[in-house]
Amino acid sequence: MAEKVQEKKEIVRKEVEAEQLFTEFKEHSVADFFKKNKQMLGLSGKQRTLTTIIHELVTNSLDACEEAGILPEIEVSLSELGSEYYEISVVDNGPGIPEDKVASALGKLLAGTKFHRLVQTRGQQGIGVSGIILLSQMTTGKPTKVISGTNKGKTVSLEIAIDSKTNTPKVTDKHYLDNKFKGLALKCKFKDLIYKKGQNSIDEYLRRTAIANPHLTLQFQDPQGEITKYTRTVNKLPNIPTAVKPHPRGVTVDEMLTYARHGSARKVNSFLTSTFDRFGQTAVDNIQKLVHFDLNKDPRALSWEEAEDLIKAIKQTKFIAPSTDNLVPIGEDHIKKSLKAIVEPEFLCVVTRKPTVYQGGYAFQVEAGVAYGGKAGRLVSVEKIKDKKEVVIEEVRASEIIRYANKAPLLFDAGGCAITKTVESVDWKRYGVSNFDNSPITVFVNLISVHIPYTSAGKSAVSDDSDIVNEIKLALMDVSRKVGIYIIEKKREEEKKEKKKVFAKYAPYVVEALVHTTGEKNKDLLLKNLSNMVLEKLKMEEAGVKAPEDDVVEDDSITEEEEFEE
Ligand SMILES: Nc1ncnc2c1ncn2[C@@H]1O[C@H](COP(=O)(O)OP(=O)(O)OP(=O)(O)O)[C@@H](O)[C@H]1O
Ligand SMILES: [Mg+2]
Repeated sequence: MAEKVQEKKEIVRKEVEAEQLFTEFKEHSVADFFKKNKQMLGLSGKQRTLTTIIHELVTNSLDACEEAGILPEIEVSLSELGSEYYEISVVDNGPGIPEDKVASALGKLLAGTKFHRLVQTRGQQGIGVSGIILLSQMTTGKPTKVISGTNKGKTVSLEIAIDSKTNTPKVTDKHYLDNKFKGLALKCKFKDLIYKKGQNSIDEYLRRTAIANPHLTLQFQDPQGEITKYTRTVNKLPNIPTAVKPHPRGVTVDEMLTYARHGSARKVNSFLTSTFDRFGQTAVDNIQKLVHFDLNKDPRALSWEEAEDLIKAIKQTKFIAPSTDNLVPIGEDHIKKSLKAIVEPEFLCVVTRKPTVYQGGYAFQVEAGVAYGGKAGRLVSVEKIKDKKEVVIEEVRASEIIRYANKAPLLFDAGGCAITKTVESVDWKRYGVSNFDNSPITVFVNLISVHIPYTSAGKSAVSDDSDIVNEIKLALMDVSRKVGIYIIEKKREEEKKEKKKVFAKYAPYVVEALVHTTGEKNKDLLLKNLSNMVLEKLKMEEAGVKAPEDDVVEDDSITEEEEFEE
């Protein structure tokens, strides 16, 4: 039978006119954009989303308290309303938000007090809390309850939602409260979240927050009503970080034009010296020789080509490295105090490096610490075989790396973070830690900068800039060398004890044998001579052991340059 072949009809496509295509043209608000792309804000994954929510609210409270000069007290509580359905409440004793600003600060994306300044704060973009309020209404349809109290104003209570089409706040149920309250209290509901304890939990996030903020008193109530409280170990606020001017080496043509159009200077030369860090008259004179226009012209009249010319000239001019005195580290003593109180280690060593700069013109500083023994590291369950038959679960301590950017813990994307990679690149065996992964060790690293180079908008990992990596490496070498000396000393003491124990056990038998072979009857004398011999041997062994610091060489290719070279 002849096969019936069905011929495919060729579709001839007609060109579609632009006018027809553009009937679909629409503008979108930033709120609509983040509604579709919430993963960009770290709001993906049920557990990660919950931790990110807490992170955004707690970092805001800390930033606000520190800026206002108030020792922070923060209360976080989580209640379970149903399956994967939670209510989160965060209350702080900060300055509060003035009544006329509260709705737009919290209910409008890309609005806040920090984006336009180059200052070392935890928040930078103005999308943290508003992204959280958006997520709450997206998953529950409910607004966020807010109470704000300032020193001068009344205590105001209101509900805030965001109109995502226009990126504007929608306020309902606004009223005043009689009882005086100062600070900010937020209560919001979320669906599709999971709360569990462990490495990436809120509990861990808050523990790490307490470690890096010794001036903070923090309380957390979990859904079972269990309360964990961290009481401040330091009664002094950190110095207030000041805003810095941008360094000329980091500026692009587009930024140059934006600064020029919005500044108040009348001439390009005074605009340069007043807008940028380290821009003196010598640099202006040098640049005048290199550019093809008069630096006395009005900065607002600068063309794109002239701005390009200016940037090219800046690249050929020498500038002193950016100022670094606006960074505020936690400080060695303060880190020690909180690690001692929270981690309770056997041995602790912390270093705060001097500030320096990375390419792009931003100042940064690294702090590192190693806590060893005691409650250092994290608890993990392992299966062990008891008496060669029974399998039992035992809890042991394994190493942990606690990463921070501007004192805020980084919990996720550990593998892609420059901090993790640098800690893992350390040859821990050289420092007496024979099995790093399974050792009771907490490695602490805090990176501070007016501009942290995150790998993405989710702000959970630092990108591997070589200057930053080198500084972390130097800090870690310093602390691990000290912990190495401690561990080796400790091992030596243990071995000595063990040898003494063995000697004590067998010495009477050796003495008996000596009585028989030598005929010497004075057992006490034999024992005394034998002990002296053993002690002498142990002392000789001790003198022969090499300290780890002898073979550690600092990488002298990393120098602190006075001159900031591109
Ligand atoms: N607890 C608080 N107390 C006082 N002001 C606050 C508080 N939380 C937020 N704000 C104000 O609201 C603004 C917006 O907060 P939001 O978290 O959205 O952005 P941000 O903190 O500036 O930057 P980021 O997006 O990086 O978090 C802040 O800049 C601050 O002015
Ligand atoms: Mg914020």
